[in-house]
Amino acid sequence: ICNLLVANKLDENHNEYYRIPEAFDDLKCAAVNQEKRFSVATQGYYDNHKEEAWEDNQIKKAFCDKKFEFKREITLEKSRAKRLVLNEERKKLPIYAFRDEFLQAVNDHQIIVIVGETGSGKTTQIPQYLHEDGYTKHGRMIACTQPRRVAAMSVAARVSQEMGVKLGHEVGYSIRFEDCTSEKTVVKYMTDGMLLREFLAQPELDSYSVVMVDEAHERTLSTDILFGLVKDVARARPDLKLLISSATLDAEKFSNYFDLAPIFKIPGRRYPVEIQYTKSPEANYLDAAVVTTLQIHATQSPGDILVFLTGQEEIETVEQILKHRVRGLGTKIAELIICPIYANLPTELQAKIFEPTPEGARKVVLATNIAETSLTIDGIKYVIDPGFCKMKTYNPRTGIESLLVTPISKASAMQRAGRSGRTGPGKCFRLYTAYSFQNDLDDNTSPEIQRTNLANVVLTLYSLGIEHEKLLRFEFMDPPPADAIKKAMELLYNLGALNGQGKLTKVGRRMAEFPLDPMLSKMIVASEKYKCSDEIISIAAMLSVGNSIFYRPKDKQVHADNARLNFHSGDVGDHIAYLNVFNSWKETNYSSEWCYENYIQVRCMKHARDIRDQLAGLLERVEIELISNSNDLDAIKKSILSGFFPHAAKLQKNGTYGRVKHLQTVHIHPSSGLAEVVPRLVLYHELVLTTKEYMRQVTEIKPEWLLEIAPHYYQLNDVEDSSSKKMPRGCGLAH
Ligand code: CDP
Ligand code: MG
Repeated sequence: ICNLLVANKLDENHNEYYRIPEAFDDLKCAAVNQEKRFSVATQGYYDNHKEEAWEDNQIKKAFCDKKFEFKREITLEKSRAKRLVLNEERKKLPIYAFRDEFLQAVNDHQIIVIVGETGSGKTTQIPQYLHEDGYTKHGRMIACTQPRRVAAMSVAARVSQEMGVKLGHEVGYSIRFEDCTSEKTVVKYMTDGMLLREFLAQPELDSYSVVMVDEAHERTLSTDILFGLVKDVARARPDLKLLISSATLDAEKFSNYFDLAPIFKIPGRRYPVEIQYTKSPEANYLDAAVVTTLQIHATQSPGDILVFLTGQEEIETVEQILKHRVRGLGTKIAELIICPIYANLPTELQAKIFEPTPEGARKVVLATNIAETSLTIDGIKYVIDPGFCKMKTYNPRTGIESLLVTPISKASAMQRAGRSGRTGPGKCFRLYTAYSFQNDLDDNTSPEIQRTNLANVVLTLYSLGIEHEKLLRFEFMDPPPADAIKKAMELLYNLGALNGQGKLTKVGRRMAEFPLDPMLSKMIVASEKYKCSDEIISIAAMLSVGNSIFYRPKDKQVHADNARLNFHSGDVGDHIAYLNVFNSWKETNYSSEWCYENYIQVRCMKHARDIRDQLAGLLERVEIELISNSNDLDAIKKSILSGFFPHAAKLQKNGTYGRVKHLQTVHIHPSSGLAEVVPRLVLYHELVLTTKEYMRQVTEIKPEWLLEIAPHYYQLNDVEDSSSKKMPRGCGLAH
């Protein structure tokens, strides 16, 4: 009877079989036959006994059990089928033909430089080949580093599917504040920054048999530092295999750096790409991108579109405009599926870009630079390249780091265009002129190490024992400007992480435990003194989540602003407001409802809570007690100032602010709770350059605190301002 009931229910279940790709007709047949067998054999019996059977509870239960078992079987068969499909796909990748040759090369050499077009299978296949070839025996892992979090996560997800295992088991990933690995993990995708931090725990990377530094051409700061470290470890550990993989052709440089390591080339397939330029410069590249997308959609043959934008904000703007315009066109055009992809996009949505486009529809992927080489999206035939990306720049003289929208390099433009010619001939629409390409774009992007603040990396290197002299002798592929190292050491000295002899102090050692910028780490370490570690880690977590905590829907801006200002009552400043948000949310038992009511992004809050939990764990590791001191706002502010005193700015006569130690004019960002308050002296979390140089996350401080907390940095005349006559003279300056 059970079988009979199951058979009867099969009708609704067996549909699931039909979702399995065509190639698995035999599976489908089996399902259909099974169904037929059941029904032919049992139909008569079932008709006669239906009522009584169903009334019997035992049978009902048996039926439910059977149904459950059946569903599980379907799921299993489905994933088996999926694996078979994936296996076929694996064999079609360009790298597949070189599998044995590659494994032989790894066997013969300790270090290999691998070069292959994006999409040839380097990232997803190489770790699997090595695993299949026995490199993960004896509990050792294969590490594969990625410059971007999203890439690490999505590639790990893909490889776990290909291997038919659960993500986080045999295949996992590790990114800052999120470790998705387990005892079982043998293939570990991770950001380059995370591998760098692993050196702290295991200087010889003992748990790894192979380290693959992937996307080496990106030359991120962490990758460049890793080069120096892994090269050293490879000398100490002859059993360690080192793979440096890159999507561009300047492999000689890598090979030269790694003592003439052999270069393994994977010939890519590439179809011709037709490149079109605009006749005259575009005034607004976002508009131009929207118009071009719609034109392609209306006039060009099937194929998906990839648009390169500079960041989340631009992507959201373009997404909105596109949605609006498409709605306006109604049924006149085919369906356009819009898929954004950027680092902070929730994981569920990230997966959407890889879903095949349904027949008759067209997909448009709005991506940051991440789609340039780290992610391969199948089916792209058209690329729209406005010619910009967000790039960090750093001025070692002022110590100011900014993220600026900058023209891309020629090399980037070529990579972007190449994305359209992977599966067939493609087209690339450059939203700039041919003249501009030839004359305005640099040939290559300079490595990040030459244009960034090095304080964090220098602190990490110090805690790895690469101090002072050794640091100056460190083998950089392209050395950073000498000023930048000096500036980093200076900051670390000012924060108390280094002493006068250039040695790491206890404070510095503790700071290095936190995967944060040194100023934030210092703020946390200082919270011990002010007995407010509980509040400070909440603030640090909120600051780490970034600027998208509050949202402002266009039609409800006033409501949203009012909700936000509630957390600012008493002009406590943006840091304490963050704390208020976090604590209020906690009081509602982390309610999502509460977030909606207050125009706060639930997702960001959950992320902040995760980060906070981890920071609490790290506090324990550096033996700082978790103490709350919520009534003493001054103590909390002083603790923040202990890390951020270099970021002090005072009000000037003309109403703008000037950084206390630098001749630089700055403004309070309009989103700050203090924008209307205009305090005399403030500290800020960061500077952002838009139309002006804005301070974001601002808190009022007292002048005497600067002398109390950083007497080595500020002198009396720095804080005594001619414009602030009202400041009580000599208040507490005796410290
Ligand atoms: O690293 P490389 O650029 O050489 O290629 P890959 O990332 O290993 O990608 C090989 C293939 O895997 C791509 O062509 C995609 O079809 C597929 N892939 C995917 O479907 N989803 C991912 N998250 C990553 C790769
Ligand atoms: Mg790759």
